[in-house]
Amino acid sequence: MAPSGLLVAHTKSVDDTRALAAEVAVLARAGDIVLLAGDLGTGKTAFTQGFARGLGVVEQVTSPTFTLVRPYRGRLGLLHADIYRLDHLREVSDLGLIEQLEDLAAVCCMEWGDLAEPVLPPDFLEVRLEYTDADDERRVVFRTVGTGWAARRTVLARAVDRWLAEPAG
Ligand SMILES: Nc1ncnc2c1ncn2[C@@H]1O[C@H](COP(=O)(O)OP(=O)(O)OP(=O)(O)O)[C@@H](O)[C@H]1O
Ligand SMILES: [Mg+2]
Repeated sequence: MAPSGLLVAHTKSVDDTRALAAEVAVLARAGDIVLLAGDLGTGKTAFTQGFARGLGVVEQVTSPTFTLVRPYRGRLGLLHADIYRLDHLREVSDLGLIEQLEDLAAVCCMEWGDLAEPVLPPDFLEVRLEYTDADDERRVVFRTVGTGWAARRTVLARAVDRWLAEPAG
């Protein structure tokens, strides 16, 4: 873990991003919030697909852009939200889903979640996906905020260890 508290990983393909996300999901607990940040098409949905697999979700995870939030069932429940349209954010907060996550034994993955940061409890994992010079490569930057994820930083670093090295070339 760098002193800044960021963990910087690299993935080489969409499946590699899914595999990385599946390892992160192993650490998930009821009530967790995962904010997915990054430009259009960087892999926020792909990350959620891998995360779902890591939670034991068998159902196919698709982009929820036109629906507010989609629920899935695995070892924990998964609520997949996409607040690209900001009125979705208001709907998410109106539904009170975030407050109920723990009672629902669920985790929330929120695409464009960084936009919601001001209105969310200050306890989440931010995953920022970024393009690199190579088409099928992404930089994946993890930032833990609040005590819940800070306590898991060491295990998180271990879980994503094989993606932490700088790519060759
Ligand atoms: N290393 C990689 N990780 C993730 N996706 C990758 C990678 N390399 C290429 N891709 C491609 O990038 C695209 C990512 O699409 P995805 O829908 O997951 O992005 P998104 O961030 O959810 O987009 P949106 O902002 O529209 O919701 C896919 O077409 C995928 O095949
Ligand atoms: Mg998406």
